Amino acid sequence: MKPLSFLITAGPTREYLDPVRFLSNPSTGKMGYALAEVVAKLGYEVLLISGPAAIPKPHNVQVIDIISAQQMCDAVLEYLSSYSVLIMAAAVCDYYAPTIAKEKIKKSDNSLTIEFSRTKDILSEVAKTGYSGLKVGFAAESHDLEENALDKLRRKKLNMIVANDITAQGAGFGSDTNIVTIYSDKNDVVKFPIMPKYDVAGHIVDFILKYIGRDRHYAEKTVTKDK
Ligand code: CTP
Repeated sequence: MKPLSFLITAGPTREYLDPVRFLSNPSTGKMGYALAEVVAKLGYEVLLISGPAAIPKPHNVQVIDIISAQQMCDAVLEYLSSYSVLIMAAAVCDYYAPTIAKEKIKKSDNSLTIEFSRTKDILSEVAKTGYSGLKVGFAAESHDLEENALDKLRRKKLNMIVANDITAQGAGFGSDTNIVTIYSDKNDVVKFPIMPKYDVAGHIVDFILKYIGRDRHYAEKTVTKDK
């Protein structure tokens, strides 16, 4: 494991039903890509594992493209041991169709029932490996933000969780801005006002560096976004 290095996941996953249809969510990957870019600019090694995202790849970042939750899980478990910090910013689908139709499903006049199975929870799989690095999760919530975020922090055995209210104006999927609160397992609670996702990424990285005792202030660094 390199002294300080980052494995970051981003974007949605896609769970195909047939060759042309899939279950997914509106994640664009912006938050995870911004995190990867900030970390790379600070000079740390970073590997980005990305679901299908329609935005340009971050500069100077090695990227592994995946499609499904299972592929993301396999990639995380394969590379995890080489990185000292895992940031799970991806919006991983919780369900998949175990049988993918080989041919396009033709419509009929009847309703269609599809049975979904649970995908693996990647953070729980990581916990099972005994990974000793720092684990950061995200919680996208529409209600009871603090309660749900703290529950995920404990349940997924995380060191910190970045929570956002997806119903708030200027926060969540697709937006260029975000409004987040970071909770840690050391009882830190830091609320941030609305700001561009790139700046949110800077503050998250800053928080991580302070947490591990590297007091490197994002605001004091010349980390500016290339236009
Ligand atoms: N996550 C994961 N594996 C999954 C689903 C989510 O590792 N199969 C990670 C996400 O990347 C995120 C955190 O878990 O960092 C929280 O994800 P979320 O989907 O909000 O949490 P759930 O536990 O699935 O809770 P719920 O859907 O009930 O809100």
